[in-house]
Amino acid sequence: MGEQPLDPALRAPGDDAEALALLRDGEIDLEGRMLDASNVTLVGTVRSGDLAAECVYKPVAGERPLWDFPDGTLAGREISAFLVSQATGWRVVPPTVLREGLFGPGMVQLWVDGDPEVDLAEYVRRDDPALRRMAVFDAVVNNADRKGGHIIPMPDGHAYGVDHGICFSVDPKLRTLLWRWAGRPVPLAALEVLEQLADDLRGDLGEELHEHLTRREVRCTQQRVAELLRTKLHPEPSGEWPALPWPPF
Ligand SMILES: Nc1ncnc2c1ncn2[C@@H]1O[C@H](COP(=O)(O)OP(=O)(O)OP(=O)(O)O)[C@@H](O)[C@H]1O
Ligand SMILES: [Mg+2]
Repeated sequence: MGEQPLDPALRAPGDDAEALALLRDGEIDLEGRMLDASNVTLVGTVRSGDLAAECVYKPVAGERPLWDFPDGTLAGREISAFLVSQATGWRVVPPTVLREGLFGPGMVQLWVDGDPEVDLAEYVRRDDPALRRMAVFDAVVNNADRKGGHIIPMPDGHAYGVDHGICFSVDPKLRTLLWRWAGRPVPLAALEVLEQLADDLRGDLGEELHEHLTRREVRCTQQRVAELLRTKLHPEPSGEWPALPWPPF
């Protein structure tokens, strides 16, 4: 999946902007369903003009109800995670849009081809800058599900994160495998990004997020950023909530 399209007349998007336009306007051909996913998660190809790419489509109608998140809001949380990722410039979340599909509105995300050689169990323990940025990102979005399968190491050393349907709770719910920096100083470069993010959240980004999240959820996101900027430390497990995802992979 995700290889160069077989049709030689087609090409993969050259950058994130092109990928976003393709995801937004392209025609989606669904090819299959991820059987081990708990929500309806479909994979397919999206095409427009000479562009083509593999994608994931999660229709809102296929979301499994959860006790701690309002029904029908997971796709909007995925988009919100992408918008925050985009604002940081860290490219944690692959290009993601909200659009109509065969089963109604849902999130459509670029499929990214991870490096099959990487041993995830070993990888997630590494002191790797891409993972460390992801840990800061997760603290911002309050990610309740950063298990191993939601980390995709790329052949070039970058790491993508996927499955952000249960982020942005107003309660502390950070559940992740990436605790190795807990209590340690957030790198200076990341703090600078967070300063900018705090500004963005007070402006257009905050308004954009409010299309998908409640005012309170946006405000709590601002508060988590403010708290990171105040302590300048990676957060530690709260003790009130299981800190590790189960199963971990
Ligand atoms: N954009 C993507 N690129 C590459 N792989 C992806 C992408 N999105 C999802 N996957 C893969 O598909 C799996 C299932 O997708 P996802 O976790 O988003 O679905 P889910 O319904 O929330 O599943 P679960 O509840 O089991 O975590 C992921 O664990 C990951 O391995
Ligand atoms: Mg998942």
